[in-house]
Amino acid sequence: MRIDYLEAHPDFIPILSQWHHEQWSYLNPSRTVDDRIEEFKQETTGKGIPVTFVAISENVLLGSSSIVANDMDTRMDLSPWLASVYVAPQHREQGVGSALVRRTVEEAKKLEIETLYLFTPDREKFYKRLGWTVLEVSEYRGENNVIMKLRLTSDENLNSSI
Ligand SMILES: CC(C)(COP(=O)(O)OP(=O)(O)OC[C@H]1O[C@@H](n2cnc3c(N)ncnc32)[C@H](O)[C@@H]1OP(=O)(O)O)[C@@H](O)C(=O)NCCC(=O)NCCS
Repeated sequence: MRIDYLEAHPDFIPILSQWHHEQWSYLNPSRTVDDRIEEFKQETTGKGIPVTFVAISENVLLGSSSIVANDMDTRMDLSPWLASVYVAPQHREQGVGSALVRRTVEEAKKLEIETLYLFTPDREKFYKRLGWTVLEVSEYRGENNVIMKLRLTSDENLNSSI
């Protein structure tokens, strides 16, 4: 398995958009698959965020992970976010999701991001194992979500803290 920028694999954009749509369309019902395709096409590797990584094995797409500026419109004060961590069902529980998160966090460090956020309805344990801590529990789009954070720099280098 290898992890690469989605931008280097544009052929995967339609299927990835479809997967994401099936998983998360309930969060924003007006966002279409075509909207997702267009958003992915506009990402530009090496220019910061948004950025998406894909896990690939023998030219088969396994999953993806992104960094986006905003992922929760009720918490625009928090940025940026780890978002859209997704592994196709048949490839789960083999370490692909963890590898995607780790690679994405490495990218965030390269971008000199101090703190990364995420929200999850049910995957707190998965992220805790990867070093994330709970910031708060927040109702969002009618369900309870846990907002988590990961510090990427030591506290003494920070001017402010959340
Ligand atoms: C959440 C998700 C990305 C995890 O992907 P994954 O590839 O299964 O992740 P991993 O294999 O790295 O880890 C999953 C579990 O399998 C375990 N695991 C990892 N490698 C394993 C292996 N070789 N054998 C058995 N179990 C293994 C991990 O310990 C982990 O357990 P935990 O969740 O209790 O911590 C995936 O389930 C998914 O796409 N879900 C739908 C979308 C979603 O919910 N995304 C998260 C939004 S916040």
